[in-house]
Amino acid sequence: MTHNTSPYVVAIDGPSGSGKGSLALRVARELGFHLLDSGAIYRLLALKCLQQGIDLDDEDQVASQIEDFKIRFEVGEELSIPYLDDVDMTAELRREATGDAASQVARHPRVRERLLGLQRDFFRPPGLVADGRDMGTVVFPDAKFKFFLHASVEIRAQRRYKQLINMGLSANIPNLQADIAERDERDQNRSVSPLRPAEDALVVDSSLLDLAQVTNLVLSHIRENTG
Ligand code: C5P
Repeated sequence: MTHNTSPYVVAIDGPSGSGKGSLALRVARELGFHLLDSGAIYRLLALKCLQQGIDLDDEDQVASQIEDFKIRFEVGEELSIPYLDDVDMTAELRREATGDAASQVARHPRVRERLLGLQRDFFRPPGLVADGRDMGTVVFPDAKFKFFLHASVEIRAQRRYKQLINMGLSANIPNLQADIAERDERDQNRSVSPLRPAEDALVVDSSLLDLAQVTNLVLSHIRENTG
C-alpha cells in the first residue's frame, strides 16, 4: 500500500467489550499501520506486579515496576502476541482477573504518567492505530482521527462470553455484566484520564452493528478525510 499523506494516528477509545480491539486490528491491517493495544500494556504491568507479589494499591511500588518493564508484541494477521520478559502471556492476558487487576494499576496517576513515553513510541511511519481509554484525550491529543466506541453492558457481556468460551475458558453472563459495570465505573470515575470521548471524537454505538459494519464505517470516514 502506498501512503501519500504524512504519518498520522487513529485513536480508538471505548469501554471494555465495545469491540474496539478487533476494530483496531482490522483498521491497522487495512491501512498498513502499526498497532498499539494500550490495554495490553496495563494488563502486562498488572501481571508483572502480581508475579512480584506487589500490592496493586501501592502506587510507588507499581510505578517502580515500569523501570524494568520488558514487553513486546508480535503482531500477526488475526492477533497480537504479548510478551513479558520474553514469555508469551497470551493465556494470562485476556483473563477477567487480569483485566480487573489492570484497571486497578491504571488508576494511579504516576503509573499513567510513566507509561506515556512508552505508548507514544509506538507512533512510527506510516502511522498508528491506538486502542484504549485515553488515546484521543491524553496520549495522542493531536490524533488526526478519533473514534469512541460505545455498546450496551448487555451486548458487551455477551461478546465477552463468546470470546472466553472460544478460548476454552469458563464464564457466565450475569457475572460478566457485573464485572463490566464495575470496571466501567472505575474507569469513568478515576481522577486521571477518566474514560470519556474526546470532544472531537466521532462516537459510534456498536450495539447493533457487527465488526464488519463498524470497520467499514471507520475506514470510510478515514478515506473520505485523507488526501
Ligand atoms: O482494554 P482492556 O480491557 O484490555 O484494558 C484493561 C484495563 O486497562 C481497563 O479496564 C482500564 O482500566 C485500563 N486501561 C486504561 N487506559 C488505557 C487502556 C486500558 O486505563 N488506555
